[in-house]
Amino acid sequence: MTLHSIAIDGPSGAGKSTLAKALAAQLGFLYVDTGAIYRTVGLYVARQGGDCADPRQVLPRLPEIQIALRHGEDGLQHMFLGEEDVTQAIRANEVSRYASQVSAHPQVRAFLLDMQRDFARRYHVIMDGRDIGTVVLPQADLKIFLTASVEKRAIRRHKELVEKGEAPSLETIREQIAQRDWADTHRETAPLRQAEDAVVVDTSDLTLEESLAALRTLVKERLGL
Ligand code: DC
Repeated sequence: MTLHSIAIDGPSGAGKSTLAKALAAQLGFLYVDTGAIYRTVGLYVARQGGDCADPRQVLPRLPEIQIALRHGEDGLQHMFLGEEDVTQAIRANEVSRYASQVSAHPQVRAFLLDMQRDFARRYHVIMDGRDIGTVVLPQADLKIFLTASVEKRAIRRHKELVEKGEAPSLETIREQIAQRDWADTHRETAPLRQAEDAVVVDTSDLTLEESLAALRTLVKERLGL
């Protein structure tokens, strides 16, 4: 059986995970959120008191991390550190920064590469991240670069955090997003960039339903599904 893979890359807050999850459910594909893996590494290092930006404090810890990505019966992805389910813990606002910091170390990226590719060797996948179309799955059947303006992404992220009871100001979030965009696009290894053969979808002025419909059309055209 030929396995299909769809890569969705783009900056944080463009709607990648919500859309990828919905699309995966419609198509019966496995959804893999690769940002969650970097978040789990960041959480681990920070909990140990390490500075995620300093490779000397991150790299020696890699061999000891017991990180696992498992899908529940419901098809939803859970992240584990040892036996602890850290799926919620990695969503805390400060973990976004730790994830961005650890993800800039080439050895961290290399360490996590096979774990990500392994899913595509075993399942039909929709994988979202920053370098899926460029590095992790360069042979993906369809590559989407999902983006939106900083302003719109900040508004969405703010709403999400307020709903969770965390409420940094909109201005703070806008600055954090701009900073993270800069770090993710300027790092030396596997920076966030659009693959040459990726289709750009800008969700700034689209509702969730409209964005999903746009992706669904692309999948139909490209994969006939
Ligand atoms: O998608 P996210 O916001 O959960 O990702 C958290 C950080 O992890 C992001 O700032 C950059 C990094 N990341 C990465 O470098 N490569 C990926 N494929 C996914 C995430």
